[in-house]
Amino acid sequence: MCGIVGYIGLNDTKEILLNGLEKLEYRGYDSAGIAMLNEDGINLTKVKGRIATLRESVDNTVHATMGIGHTRWATHGVPNEENAHPHRSASGRFTLVHNGVIENYQELKREYLSDAMFVSQTDTEIIVQLIEKLFETYQDSAEAFRQAMSLLKGSYAIAMIDTADPDNIYVSKNKSPLLVGLGDGFNVVASDAMATLKVTDQYLEIHDQEIVVVNRNFVEVQKLNGTVVDREPYTAQIDVSDMEKGTYPHFMLKEIDEQPFVMRKIINEYQNENNELKLDADIRSAMQKTDRVYIIAAGTSYHAGLVGKSFIEKIANIPVEVHVASEFSYNMPLLSDNPLFVFISQSGETADSRGVLVKIKEMGHPALTMTNVPGSTLSREADYTLNLYAGPEIAVASTKAYTAQIAVLAILAVDTAQAKGLELEFDPMQELAIAANAMEILTDQKDEIEGLARDYLPTTRNAFFIGRSADYNVCVEGALKLKEISYIQAEGFAGGELKHGTIALIEDGTPVIALATQANVNYSIRGNVQEVVARGANAMVISMKGLEQDEDAFVLPHVHELLTPLVSVVPMQLLAYYAALHRGCDVDKPRNLAKSVTVE
Ligand code: F6R
Repeated sequence: MCGIVGYIGLNDTKEILLNGLEKLEYRGYDSAGIAMLNEDGINLTKVKGRIATLRESVDNTVHATMGIGHTRWATHGVPNEENAHPHRSASGRFTLVHNGVIENYQELKREYLSDAMFVSQTDTEIIVQLIEKLFETYQDSAEAFRQAMSLLKGSYAIAMIDTADPDNIYVSKNKSPLLVGLGDGFNVVASDAMATLKVTDQYLEIHDQEIVVVNRNFVEVQKLNGTVVDREPYTAQIDVSDMEKGTYPHFMLKEIDEQPFVMRKIINEYQNENNELKLDADIRSAMQKTDRVYIIAAGTSYHAGLVGKSFIEKIANIPVEVHVASEFSYNMPLLSDNPLFVFISQSGETADSRGVLVKIKEMGHPALTMTNVPGSTLSREADYTLNLYAGPEIAVASTKAYTAQIAVLAILAVDTAQAKGLELEFDPMQELAIAANAMEILTDQKDEIEGLARDYLPTTRNAFFIGRSADYNVCVEGALKLKEISYIQAEGFAGGELKHGTIALIEDGTPVIALATQANVNYSIRGNVQEVVARGANAMVISMKGLEQDEDAFVLPHVHELLTPLVSVVPMQLLAYYAALHRGCDVDKPRNLAKSVTVE
């Protein structure tokens, strides 16, 4: 949610900032801006809309040796030019970008800024005005910045320029992600290493409530009390080419196609040369010790957790609860004696999940994070991390991270079962490899699925996805994919539950997409399909080889019945993709959304 970038050095500041913001656009894209400092002062450009609009609006004749930029996902104040960042203090001396939400901004406004004039409705403008106010007392911008940071409550990643100090960018963070990138004769600031990977792969982690002075020639990290912190940089392990679309029209399509390769990468990464699983011994022991696993996640990652629950229960024989992160913190269930928390998060930055992590760590419980970004906040703050190896996921709608999460959950379950000496009736890694092949067959059948999207979802207002057992878990994900990128109101239902109310919504032509990949419920889900057809629904059955019937619209290749979500989700993703495309929607950047949700 919101992305920030900063640069200080002698290279092309404008291009580095714009390029960084383009890479961060997945974090929010309703308005954007950059501020550059040179001998003429601050050059500020802000626009409503995308980075492409910002690029068109920036004065190309400006040359600067430092600057900050921002791409916004609105929290306080509508998306418009006034509310776009960077924000400036009343005198114009301080200019600042912010990602996060300041919880006490009203109190700060009342206490320190009662006579100040504001030009925006943002909480961010309070921060920059507060710094200016504190400067009146301290007459030192570093000290004013530090004092302001000590007064803020909530989440923030901040980069600030002082017009009178062209040598330093002032940076701080709390809960929101922020990194400082190190270069030769320059340094950068970014919400995500992806933003500045073109100029450096060396990064410094910044911890909560640290203050960083970013100079062209050095970076100094301090605690809030001024103590200097010594920290080694790390090398960001991201391949720049993974962040490009190549010949694909959209990242989402590229990421759907990458799924079979991600499966194979996971199989390789989690096996040794003797084809034995190689999970961290501490994770294995934590799984053996626990009497109940609590999976905490949001959105698509939560849906992967639902699939993971059946793996861990059926394969490793450990009870599992799956919770929506934003609910868990405020409505915590009774916990078992030895709980193990598993956080599933593509980004590793989701504020709702982090809120739970902080709470359960305070309670002294162990935590494992499953993430696509190993250095992320959730990964750093948990006791253990399992990497998803999906590569950067840029499209806002999650696809390859979902299937990677399912595969890693399966591996975790199998590893635990082996450690507990439980008998497995199938070769899990071979079954995962078969699933990878099946995914590849499906990604080659795009024309057929595009045809189904055209036939079933052309102008519809709503759509229903029904399934039972493992299929139900995939239906909720299929519905989420469809609604978030095509804006068709879609719901995933347990096939048997429809008749308890929701069937009232079925009208002539209502699309109902049914999944039938589970032998034990094949006849009952088909009964549910007949019930909606009898009420006028335009029903499509997606079944699996061995369970198919003549009238089925699409038949998936056969895979092990526990792993069907890995393949049945692929046509769901493609249906959503083509439905969105035919409706002229922005597939990779759907309205109102952002990829990394770093506010609660
Ligand atoms: C949907 C989607 C979101 C995320 C959710 C959690 O396509 O991407 O629902 O799954 O915001 O994000 P992570 O996994 O980064 O914690």
